[in-house]
Amino acid sequence: MTVSRKVLERHRKNVLIETGTYKGTTTKLAVEELGYDKVHTIELQEYLFNESKNNLKDLIDLGKVFIYNGNSNVKIKEVLDLIDEPVTILLDAHIDGGNFIPNVTPNVSWCPLYEELLHIKNHKINNHTILIDDVRIIGKIGWGSGVILDKLVEILMEINPNYVITYEEGETPNDVLVARVI
Ligand SMILES: C[S@@+](CC[C@H](N)C(=O)[O-])C[C@H]1O[C@@H](n2cnc3c(N)ncnc32)[C@H](O)[C@@H]1O
Repeated sequence: MTVSRKVLERHRKNVLIETGTYKGTTTKLAVEELGYDKVHTIELQEYLFNESKNNLKDLIDLGKVFIYNGNSNVKIKEVLDLIDEPVTILLDAHIDGGNFIPNVTPNVSWCPLYEELLHIKNHKINNHTILIDDVRIIGKIGWGSGVILDKLVEILMEINPNYVITYEEGETPNDVLVARVI
């Protein structure tokens, strides 16, 4: 659910892009405690976008947080178009029991990871640090059932053959895939 603060701190760049804002907890932590200068965060669901916008109001007013309402499978391109330095990208957007509301949650794919990675692959910079949260679910249940970990790694290596992939602590040990150039 929430990526560990140690992982976010260890892999900090100036800017964080986060897909899946939820209530803005990680967004706030990144700016207020982990030293990120700016966070761009994307939330699909209007009710969570509105709640987060309210929770993050002070940081938005300060120009530290930029929040977008929409599907990260396309919105991430809009955000990447604003970026001209290597950043940390936390891919944490998925629909699960914790955020699905019948007749409220939009009827979209439950996991935008492949599309997000393809936009990252098309970006002019190929050495962003990419964190994929909750990999314990991948290939198993819910949003993860249609996703293949080997395929994600293959796309990452197409983005940059020099990526080093590690698995670091999240909700459980080895729950966050980290792709970075050392
Ligand atoms: C696991 S939560 C994110 C937790 C948050 N990053 C944190 O650390 O507190 C997943 C979030 O992704 C959102 N989401 C699901 N599919 C999405 C999509 N295609 N684009 C953007 N957000 C999406 C859900 O509404 C939910 O708020």
